[in-house]
Amino acid sequence: MLLKNISLQNFTNYEEANCDFDDNINIFVGDNAQGKSNLLDAIYYIATISSSRKNKDRELIKWGRDFFSISAHFFNRYGENKVDVKVIGNKKEVYLNNYKIEKRKEYIGYLITVIFNPEDLYIIKGDPSLRRQYIDNELSTTDVEYFLNIIKYRKILEQRNILLKEHQRKKISDDLMDIWEEQLTKYGVKIIKKRLELIKKLQEISKNIHLRITDNAEELHIEYQTNIDIFDMELSYRNLIKENRRKDIDRGYTSIGPHRDDLEILINGMSAKKFASQGQQRTISLSLKISEIEFIKEKTGEYPLLLLDDVLSELDKKRKHKLLEEIDNKVQTIITTTDLNDIENFVIEKGKVIIIHDGKVI
Ligand SMILES: Nc1ncnc2c1ncn2[C@@H]1O[C@H](COP(=O)(O)OP(=O)(O)O)[C@@H](O)[C@H]1O
Ligand SMILES: [Mg+2]
Repeated sequence: MLLKNISLQNFTNYEEANCDFDDNINIFVGDNAQGKSNLLDAIYYIATISSSRKNKDRELIKWGRDFFSISAHFFNRYGENKVDVKVIGNKKEVYLNNYKIEKRKEYIGYLITVIFNPEDLYIIKGDPSLRRQYIDNELSTTDVEYFLNIIKYRKILEQRNILLKEHQRKKISDDLMDIWEEQLTKYGVKIIKKRLELIKKLQEISKNIHLRITDNAEELHIEYQTNIDIFDMELSYRNLIKENRRKDIDRGYTSIGPHRDDLEILINGMSAKKFASQGQQRTISLSLKISEIEFIKEKTGEYPLLLLDDVLSELDKKRKHKLLEEIDNKVQTIITTTDLNDIENFVIEKGKVIIIHDGKVI
């Protein structure tokens, strides 16, 4: 995928801006709080139709204005495309090649980005929910069916949880519980199957990348963790849900299923969450990000756009070099930095340096 150009109006601290991109490496340079991450977020926005930083679209509208718009030109396997997004108050309009997009699923896979920022460290040391989110994001960017199944699963889960709570006050018929649990099993199994496939693939890819980055010192192993027996999933899921019904009624929530699963990350057989140093954790998140890129390439036939927000200053020289080696000449990359000294000369020479100052592209 190749992003050619983006233009913004009233987006965060930009009033009006236009930016053309190099096919290989682009470097946004500027002091703090000038708008580098905002511009990166605008790129993320046109790929996912949501922000990586703000939950509500209206928070992206420049203060004192009542709308923002973003337009972009990009190439992908379908050819040349134009996307236009406009947000007015709570209303959002998206056009792909002048054709109105009504649902996000119609646009999935058109433009894919992988974003890497210092917070990605939390994939390793943070709560299980962050790892689940990482897995779900990963799958949802390329797999429409998964994206829709997750939405359905969440709705069914919510219904069962409501019933569990009602049950505390008055008995709900077993038949009704059975119906919801059967639905939960159906979608839960679909989700876990896809996640297992992804983790298996990512394990193969990331193991090799991690060995390369660490000069064969560290063996990375990632494994999906679930209470459900993965060899007889449907039966095991159904039984576990039923066995836990009583306990779930007391707790008021569903204790079994993909919304409770986790990802185990091991380095040389030891839990990375517990034992890896800050530097090792950083390297793991780097390997996972590069694997993500390769995974998307395998799935779609195209490399995604790589957005690196302030990560180069966090990596030591050797790792920085390894990262650039992995992506150079194949993945269109956009890097933000406050200091060009953090970036190797050969990268600056072949890349395009774009100066960002006070909500302007200079
Ligand atoms: N909706 C908005 N309207 C106006 N300014 C905003 C809005 N949202 C964020 N900002 C401002 O954008 C500025 C630049 O943010 P950011 O892109 O994170 O900077 P950088 O990455 O260059 O350090 C911040 O000072 C922030 O206050
Ligand atoms: Mg920033």
